[in-house]
Amino acid sequence: MPVVAVVGGQWGDEGKGKIIDLMAQEAEFVIRSQGGDNAGHTVVNPLGEFALHLVPCGVFNPEAVCIIAPGVALNPAILIEEIDRLQASGVSTDRLLLSDRAQMVMPYHLLLDRALENQRADDPIGTTGRGIGPAYGDKVARVGLRMGDLLHPDTLEAKVRVAVQRANGSLGSMGSSQRADVEQIVKAYQGYAQRLGPMIRDIAPMVSQAIARDASILLEGAQGTLLDLDHGNYPYVTGSSCTVAGLLQGVGIPPRAFSRAIGVYKAYSTRVGSGPLPTELLDATGEYIRERAHEFGATTGRARRVGWFDSVVSRYTVAINGFDAVALTRIDMLDEMSSVKLCTAYELDGERLELPPSNLDLHARCQPIYEELPGWRKNTRGTDRFEDLPKEAIHFIQRIEALLGIPVNLIGLGPERSERIMRQPLWPLASG
Ligand code: GDP
Ligand code: IMO
Ligand code: MG
Repeated sequence: MPVVAVVGGQWGDEGKGKIIDLMAQEAEFVIRSQGGDNAGHTVVNPLGEFALHLVPCGVFNPEAVCIIAPGVALNPAILIEEIDRLQASGVSTDRLLLSDRAQMVMPYHLLLDRALENQRADDPIGTTGRGIGPAYGDKVARVGLRMGDLLHPDTLEAKVRVAVQRANGSLGSMGSSQRADVEQIVKAYQGYAQRLGPMIRDIAPMVSQAIARDASILLEGAQGTLLDLDHGNYPYVTGSSCTVAGLLQGVGIPPRAFSRAIGVYKAYSTRVGSGPLPTELLDATGEYIRERAHEFGATTGRARRVGWFDSVVSRYTVAINGFDAVALTRIDMLDEMSSVKLCTAYELDGERLELPPSNLDLHARCQPIYEELPGWRKNTRGTDRFEDLPKEAIHFIQRIEALLGIPVNLIGLGPERSERIMRQPLWPLASG
């Protein structure tokens, strides 16, 4: 039953896109099941370089069926742009399907996102501004529109009218001068319906048939576990469940059918937006890593905050997800460092902590306890075998394995699909 989930173990941007593109070569289905176009997944493969926001990274495998599942908050305008860009690059999107249950991101969600951030100007979340929080808010309030609504033009206008009235009321009460316009939205969404209509359907029968015949199904996580609505650093989180369990729920896959979870971690930490980052480097070293690794968001272009690898939060995300193995990316970005640090524990008020405190203020006060390791000061790009890595890099990776208690199966040494060392398969073996 190869249902495999690939999930971010940190604060997003761990390099999931690259891993999913690689694993998708062996997948029959690749499914996005949560988040929306707040995600930015970079793929570099023989077809070119792509930053995908909604289309699953399996789209480069012409044999794979790509699905956007019920748990996603889908902005049809962004999806159409993305499909057009892919097609212009010669990538077929013919095997892309959209769940009629997926929530739709509407133009007023973007206005509400901005108004909410303006309202908390002294303490913003630092959202991507893609309307994701308000779209999920409407879902929970049970006033959202879903992709299936595009298939019913007769009732679409009435639904939009009610939703716009509600949204404009909220905008007014938040002091925003922006308003959504019913006619404009209806016209635009009728156009989206024409374009996307043929791709929209109930995906549940297809997914259950795929499970029944043991098809290989790859679940593409977006964001990262520390941005999860329940388990992340609330309120500095996203609107969806970014964990393995969240992915299963977002598609409608029974936990019993699940096989394996791969956690994607970067060799250091980055975070876009606000919230605790105890290992943050606010000095020249942080600046150096940001510039060398070009740590600027794929969705918003914002500079990412940079810090050392934090095994306290990483142990926590291993536990929350039950990861079987790690894909450790961007080792090559540390190639020139004379020494590298790993945060092994926190100190808080004289006490040693192995796991992060749930209370955010306490988390922000934690002092990292570091282990400093010698750097390797050698180019690792192009290395094919683990044994051929510099011994210092091997030691660094082995320390991470020991600190997290699970194996590092893949080591990323560059952005391209082929730039990695595969120590153990990421897909389960046929017998497993
Ligand atoms: P995602 O959101 O988790 O898919 O990650 P992003 O695409 O937002 O950011 C990861 C960045 O790292 C992208 O620019 C990738 O091309 C790049 N990348 C992924 N793995 C590696 C790696 O092992 N080495 C290097 N140098 N870059 C990588
Ligand atoms: P991928 O899939 C990194 C962050 C935002 C902000 C918080 C809430 O590329 O890893 P939102 O717009 O979701 O309401 O913003 O979540 N965030 C991400 N950070 N990678 C992402 O996705 C993110 N998606 C959301 O920066 O801090
Ligand atoms: Mg990203």
